[in-house]
This record gives sequence, C-alpha cells and structure tokens, in this order.
Amino acid sequence: SVNVNDPGLITLVNKLQDVFATVGVQNPIDLPQIVVVGSQSSGKSSVLENIVGRDFLPRGTGIVTRRPLVLQLVNRPAPARANGTSKEEAEMKSGDSAANLDEWGEFLHIPGQKFYDFNKIREEIVKETDAKTGRNQGISPLPIGLRIYSPNVLTLTLVDLPGMTRVPVGDQPKDIERQIKDMILKQISKNNAIILAVTAANTDLANSDGLKMAREVDPEGQRTIGVLTKIDLMDQGTDVVDILAGRIIPLRLGYVPVVNRGQRDIDSKKAISAALEHEKQFFEEHRAYRNKHAYCGTPYLARKLNMILMMHIKQTLPEIKGRIASSLQKYTAELSSLGDSLLGNSANIILNIITEFCNEYRTVLEGNNQELSSIEL
Ligand code: GDP
Ligand code: NA
Ligand code: MG
Repeated sequence: SVNVNDPGLITLVNKLQDVFATVGVQNPIDLPQIVVVGSQSSGKSSVLENIVGRDFLPRGTGIVTRRPLVLQLVNRPAPARANGTSKEEAEMKSGDSAANLDEWGEFLHIPGQKFYDFNKIREEIVKETDAKTGRNQGISPLPIGLRIYSPNVLTLTLVDLPGMTRVPVGDQPKDIERQIKDMILKQISKNNAIILAVTAANTDLANSDGLKMAREVDPEGQRTIGVLTKIDLMDQGTDVVDILAGRIIPLRLGYVPVVNRGQRDIDSKKAISAALEHEKQFFEEHRAYRNKHAYCGTPYLARKLNMILMMHIKQTLPEIKGRIASSLQKYTAELSSLGDSLLGNSANIILNIITEFCNEYRTVLEGNNQELSSIEL
C-alpha cells in the first residue's frame, strides 16, 4: 500500500478499539493530526493527496487553497453484501469509475449528503471556498470540514492550509501574511500535530516558510518532517543530497524528497497510480538518488508517518493500561470489602485481554525501526 493507511495499522487500531470497547473505554487512541505547511504552490495539497491515495483536492498554480481544510478520515468497516454490488451501485450513483459504495465524503456544511464521486468533492471544496472568500483570491480562516468514510483509512485528521504569501493581490487583505501565519500557527501549535514542512526543491531551503513556521512551534524538531517537492524541476546537475544528509538544516526526523504530479499531469488527469510509478522510476534511475531510492518518494514518506503513528500508539498504550488497572483495583477493593469476589475475577480477565492484545501485536508495534524498538511497551 502506498498511502498512510497501512492495512496492518488499520487492523491494529480496529482491534485495539474492540478490546477497549469490551472494557468500556471509548476512543482510547487519539492519533496525531498531520498538517502541511509551506509557501504558496510548494506542493502541499499534492503531498496530502498522495498520502491519502485519492484524488479530491484542488491543486494548481497560484493560491488555490484559501481556507483551511480539516479532513477527517473515518475508518468504517464495509458491511457484508453480495459481491460486486457495492461498486456497481456506487458507479451508477456517481458516474465515477473509481467509486465504491463503502467510500464516501461528507461536508460539515452539508450534513447528510454523501459524495461517492471524489471529483464532486473537489468541486464542492472550490465552491465552498469561493462562497466565503470571494472569487478574487481572498482568504478565510474559517475551516472547511470534510469527513471521508472508508474501510481503507485510519481514523485520523489531516489539515491542508493556505500557503505563506507576503504581497496581497486581488481581494486579499493588507495583512494577509499575518492572517495566514495565524491560521497556520493555530494548527501546528497543537502538541499532537505532525508537521509536514513542505519546500520546493527548486527554491532555497534557508528561506523555507514551512521550516521557519515549524521551528517556531517545534524548535527541537520532534514532530517535523521535511518534505522536498519538485525534485524533477531542479536544474540539471543539482540535487538535494546534502539536504538529505542533514548537512544544510538538520532535522531529527529527516527529509523525504518526492515527485508529485506537475500542472500538465493535473490538466491531463494523470492517475495517482501512474504518478507514483513515475516517481519510483525517477528515483531509481537518477544518478544522485539511485543508491538511496528506498528513502525517497511518497511510499517512504507514508511509511515514515506510519512509523510515527505506531510510536504514538505504543507510547499511549501503557498509560491507558495503567489507567484501567488502577481504576479496576479501586473498584475491586471496594467490592471485595462488600464481600463480592466476582469483580476481582473480571478485573483479571480484562487485564488479560489487554496483555494478550499487546503480545499478539508486539511485533507489529515494534515494527522494524530502531526508534520504535527503543520504546518499551
Ligand atoms: P500548494 O499551493 O502548496 O498546495 O501546491 P499544489 O499542490 O497546489 O501545487 C502547486 C503546483 O505545483 C501545481 O501545479 C502542481 O502540479 C505543481 N507541483 C507540485 N508538486 C510538484 C512536483 O513534485 N513536481 C512538479 N513538476 N510539479 C509539482
Ligand atoms: Na497552489
Ligand atoms: Mg494547496
């Protein structure tokens, strides 16, 4: 799988929800939200879309994203039904050949309306952006809320933001820089935000708006990943090898170079799958990257995000386990003083379920990453 929604991780989280639902704890795992920051047209929306693995965001030259988009992915297992029915019905409903009855979008501003066609989702984002900002390149801090329900996603929030810009054009306010900055800071100051600081590789890293903003709220670089876009547009003979090696501006979580679809690909409606194939080939064949192609491209970025999510789950589990254990202990003590030994038994059963879960998923939780293995369950 190329997107952040790794099937193993989805299974793991679903199982975890089941286990905790059994013991009466709701939503124990609050996964971090992923936020993209960077200059206008650096490729933020493109990166986000590749991570989700579906086509539905407006992208393009100029200031396309003019309101924050808070995108909630919601895992919803597919109901059992006759083979093929879902796909045919969805295609009929939407006219989109990629449609599937089990995957749809819903906007917070149009409750109850299900969008099966992801092209229609993009059109609605454009329409709703214009409705609150005026057509002449205005901006608004009012977020657009979109939920995507699917059996193939992790329940997770992603935030697409307008890019940094300095000089107001069209209907933009005089203090546009300040306004956009406030909008971005609001999203990335949250401690559980993972910041994707996007910089186009054909611009100077030292002037990167994304990195500057990220450093303001995450000076230690604990939750910032550098994403270098437009590697394909760099001048012949130049590359980002020094940046990747941490010789320019080091980041603890490092940098990932990617190649997104260019404007021509967007105009010709090039599919994400074709774009990812092209990206893979680009890094495998490029003189500067072929010996490290495994650490380049969107699939690697998705794996890195996956790893961070795993780490988060791993860090959260002991705390939840402790919380449950201590409340059970308290109730057990109270009840045994009343002469009831039954609950003492069920406390043990519940803790056994959780321990079994941790054992069953130990290898998944540990992953194959050093950073992860160093955190004990
Ligand atoms: P945003 O304003 O930061 O959200 O940027 P977009 O994702 O809208 O992209 C801006 C423009 O840059 C679009 O025309 C994209 O097709 C193009 N673009 C983004 N990433 C790349 C890339 O890696 N390579 C090429 N050639 N074009 C890209
Ligand atoms: Na843009
Ligand atoms: Mg954008």
